[in-house]
Amino acid sequence: MCGIIGYVGFREAEPVLLQGLRRLEYRGYDSAGVATLTGANLHVRKKAGRVADLADHLHKHPAPGCIGIGHTRWATHGGATDRNAHPHLGGKGDIVIVHNGVIENYAALKSQLQADGVVFHSDTDTEVIAHLIARQDEDDLVEAIRRVLPLLKGTYGLAVLSLREPGVLVGARLGSPLVLGIGDGENFLASDPSALADHAERVVYLDDHQLCVLTADDWHILDRDRTRITPEVQPLVNTAASLDTGVFSHYMLKEIYEQPEALENALRGRLDEANATAHFGGLNLEPQRLRQIDRIILTACGTSYHAALVGEYLFEEFARMPVEVEYASEFRYRNSPLDRNTIVIAITQSGETADTLAALRESKRKGHPTLALCNVVGSTIAREADGGVYLHAGPEIGVASTKAFTNQVAVLAMLALYFGRLRHLSSLQGEQMIRELQALPDQIRRTLSCHERIQSIARQYAWKRNFLYLGRQYLFPVALEGALKLKEISYIHAEGYPAAEMKHGPLALIDADTPSVFLVPRNSVYDKVLSNLEEVKARGGPILAIASEGDDEIAERADEVVYVPQVADHLQPLVTVVPLQLLAYHIALLCGRDVDKPRNLAKSVTVE
Ligand code: AGP
Repeated sequence: MCGIIGYVGFREAEPVLLQGLRRLEYRGYDSAGVATLTGANLHVRKKAGRVADLADHLHKHPAPGCIGIGHTRWATHGGATDRNAHPHLGGKGDIVIVHNGVIENYAALKSQLQADGVVFHSDTDTEVIAHLIARQDEDDLVEAIRRVLPLLKGTYGLAVLSLREPGVLVGARLGSPLVLGIGDGENFLASDPSALADHAERVVYLDDHQLCVLTADDWHILDRDRTRITPEVQPLVNTAASLDTGVFSHYMLKEIYEQPEALENALRGRLDEANATAHFGGLNLEPQRLRQIDRIILTACGTSYHAALVGEYLFEEFARMPVEVEYASEFRYRNSPLDRNTIVIAITQSGETADTLAALRESKRKGHPTLALCNVVGSTIAREADGGVYLHAGPEIGVASTKAFTNQVAVLAMLALYFGRLRHLSSLQGEQMIRELQALPDQIRRTLSCHERIQSIARQYAWKRNFLYLGRQYLFPVALEGALKLKEISYIHAEGYPAAEMKHGPLALIDADTPSVFLVPRNSVYDKVLSNLEEVKARGGPILAIASEGDDEIAERADEVVYVPQVADHLQPLVTVVPLQLLAYHIALLCGRDVDKPRNLAKSVTVE
């Protein structure tokens, strides 16, 4: 997804902008650019390709000045070309802007402007905004922007400079996040706090319909009526150290190995042994109100949706509550008949996914209590939900989500424990669950010892073009997750199914070139999954089994076996997903893929 960085201060802007863009690369993009001002001169440099390509270009054609804006673009309107890269100019080139989001009525606005003789130089919706601002008969940049914003339908995070006010940087936000970084004699603007990690310690998160006005020595926030707002200044969670790959060759591998520690961080301070329950500081819903809740909606996208599917089994088993799991992109438009005692829980790593945010807002609009399970402090979804639980997984940079998934499942397990203990779950059951959760980090550490085994399997199967992932009950969502991991970073087709579904059609796919990955640890449905495995084996399909340590029987039936520690059924998703993450990682490497930044994808999908 697009990224924004802005700077105004005493330093040359170019290196600050480039460093910020490098911090934003993980979000996924296909072009990058910067614009700086020196007095009456504007310097715009932009290129299709990587930030490194832009840096090479700037080496030959520097962009001087102590004020500037930068952008990484994930194409929505118009291809990934130099001319469509941001920044974009308006009018006679005296306005320059970068933009995150989608302007849904840009075509009508563009036609009106063209009818008035405006000449466009790109295919983007962003350029429309630049021309509209330039056409305001206003030397006051803030006023010119304020007049344009009501004309725009859709979403925007904007950073704007003007030759008319060379020392002023203006930001505006509706639906696409913006965060202000406060410095000493300098100020910063970004779409993501990680871009500020090297420079600011205090930040202000803009809300929708707010503008920020930055100069080297001052900053302030305005609402849409230009009334000054006194915002909450928050500490920036120091992410600089965790934003390097360290000894690992990729962020994804680093984050797979961080899962035990991330899990410890998720559990820390939340397991209440004295009362055999879990404790959360930010639910903002009293136990009495939670006891009235008689239905749960879990809504999310992608990997977070798979975590929600595990949550469905957890809440049904431990809280005995009916649960629906909804794709946020569907739920936001479905207008489901829900009664007032239905709670909606949004699950999201980034806290900025447009569909999940819209589903949350729609639920709030209808008066439902809402919670958010989120990994990014201060993100939009975290701030707009009535309450929530932070995942504490640390920054997840790889586009393929790994440690966020395991932390989402762990938090859902603790929530199910908490909800269950508000109702009927016994203290003995609660104590048992707490002990099982406390043992998990080390069990995942032990699971990581399968790494070499996985590398060997990857070498044998990396050339296959189709994979099936099969599991039952708590492991059906893990089958879906394993398939998604492989798809999104190796570009190999893979599908996840409930294991018993094979005989209802997918069995026709089985042949010697279609490996099936079976999640078959010892649990309540072990024998049934074994039967499904035999159905595939009988038809000559290669079988990779993820099984419990000590299960010698499975070795007789599968072509490859990866063993994981034996844990309680409801926690098996957390250990069985690790080999699947590693398998996807190594197959993708063998296929020569960009593991951390796979093609066409973004880390945070802030557009519909
Ligand atoms: C997962 O590997 C993908 N990157 C993607 O499916 C992701 O889970 C989805 O876009 C939801 O993102 P969120 O958790 O930040 O809302």
